[in-house]
Amino acid sequence: MSDPLTALLQIISTQTTVLQTAYSKADSSVPSINTPFQPTPLEFDPRVTEARHLIVAAATQLIATVQSPIEFLQAQAGGMFDTVIVGFIIDVNVPEILREAGPEGLHVDDLSTATGVDASYLARVLRYLATRHIFKETSPNVFAHNRPSSLLTKAKSIKEIQKTPTARFDNAPIAAYLHLGSDELLTSSTAFSSFLKNPKQAAAPFNVAYNTPKKMWDWFEEDELRSRRFTAAMKNSADAMFRPEIFTSGINGDALNPDDVVVDVGGNIGPVTLTLYKAFPKLRYIVQDLGQQVVAGEKFWNEKAPQALKSGRVQLQAHDFFTPQPIKDAAIYMLRLIIHDWCDEDAKKILSQLRSAAGSQSKLILFEMLAKHVSENPTDGTLSAPYPLLPNLGVAKAGFFTTLDMSLLTMYNGKERTYEEYAQLGKESGWKLEEVKPGKICALVFSPI
Ligand SMILES: C[S@@+](CC[C@H](N)C(=O)[O-])C[C@H]1O[C@@H](n2cnc3c(N)ncnc32)[C@H](O)[C@@H]1O
Repeated sequence: MSDPLTALLQIISTQTTVLQTAYSKADSSVPSINTPFQPTPLEFDPRVTEARHLIVAAATQLIATVQSPIEFLQAQAGGMFDTVIVGFIIDVNVPEILREAGPEGLHVDDLSTATGVDASYLARVLRYLATRHIFKETSPNVFAHNRPSSLLTKAKSIKEIQKTPTARFDNAPIAAYLHLGSDELLTSSTAFSSFLKNPKQAAAPFNVAYNTPKKMWDWFEEDELRSRRFTAAMKNSADAMFRPEIFTSGINGDALNPDDVVVDVGGNIGPVTLTLYKAFPKLRYIVQDLGQQVVAGEKFWNEKAPQALKSGRVQLQAHDFFTPQPIKDAAIYMLRLIIHDWCDEDAKKILSQLRSAAGSQSKLILFEMLAKHVSENPTDGTLSAPYPLLPNLGVAKAGFFTTLDMSLLTMYNGKERTYEEYAQLGKESGWKLEEVKPGKICALVFSPI
């Protein structure tokens, strides 16, 4: 076995060749960090994704190995600046201003005129980000987009943003997600330590930080910007992160009969249902969520697939999933990224309502990510990775997932669960876990007990 550093370098070298070959076979080359992001089918190619994960896993492990542990740890003390500075830049519309300026970028004095923010502050925060490969400084105090920063742009022009500020994050999932990270998530995280030491004091750190007994969702009902921003951020999961096949094969749509009913419980405006409707237009769909999401849903469907609502194939319904489920004996009750929002007690209440409405042939399908150990553990699917990488590939594969787990804890005392924990939750609410279809997000298929 070679020494760890040599082994890490070999992984980087071999997988870089894999990446370059995949791009050259598609008559292209690995995208430069200096040019704005352009989506290509290769973004989702499983071999490309795997090569990327291995390169990032090896590179981050190499850094953790060779960097002075003092410098390595010092970075942890300032992690909040990553969050707060990206949030600020999005807030003052720098990404859109630089998009409109084009590839040459803009001097901070011009950015200052456009944003109303002091040029010296802008220079410092943009330098902070450019040092971390978000934006590039093309000459002293002149900044332009690079590949990561180009994804921070909203889907609207500055004029549109100024005209309707509450709608500014519509159709901009990444900007929405990062901006909410710098807002209610960051504020709530200040109560993290206090909550963990005394969890009886409130439902979640969010409730401590904002001094409210309300669940985040109910709190959103009175705040259009936050509610719309969260909705836009959720779309990130459907459009950018998960392949549609996860959902189409997850519900086993080919085996369903025309007019079978699929209920998307807590479906938000219905991004998963839209994927399913496109694949299986003969099924019937009911997207349920709280009132404000239903209003936003109408707009979404009228834009994306107006015929679906007109024909009645897709219905939007205001429904609180803690109350009796009005749709009885549906073929499928599906919940994507819902159960992980709730503690065990609440999760059981939600699943029990569905069990009471289900018929003997109904299926319950949860689309969730499964929690895994960092060490090798074949029972939860954490299998060994190439020597000397962490078995879960560290932040390359589990970075977003573990951040999400902490966000769930912070906002609602929710949690990512293991396979065993989902099976147990099902058992205690009348459902038997029959199958797990693996993927970036898994389909957990349950039948009534
Ligand atoms: C994490 S999002 C998931 C949305 C959707 N399933 C998706 O994957 O795009 C959680 C959703 O649960 C909804 N929600 C929260 N509490 C609810 C309740 N009591 N009844 C119905 N929906 C609720 C929220 O409005 C939000 O749309």
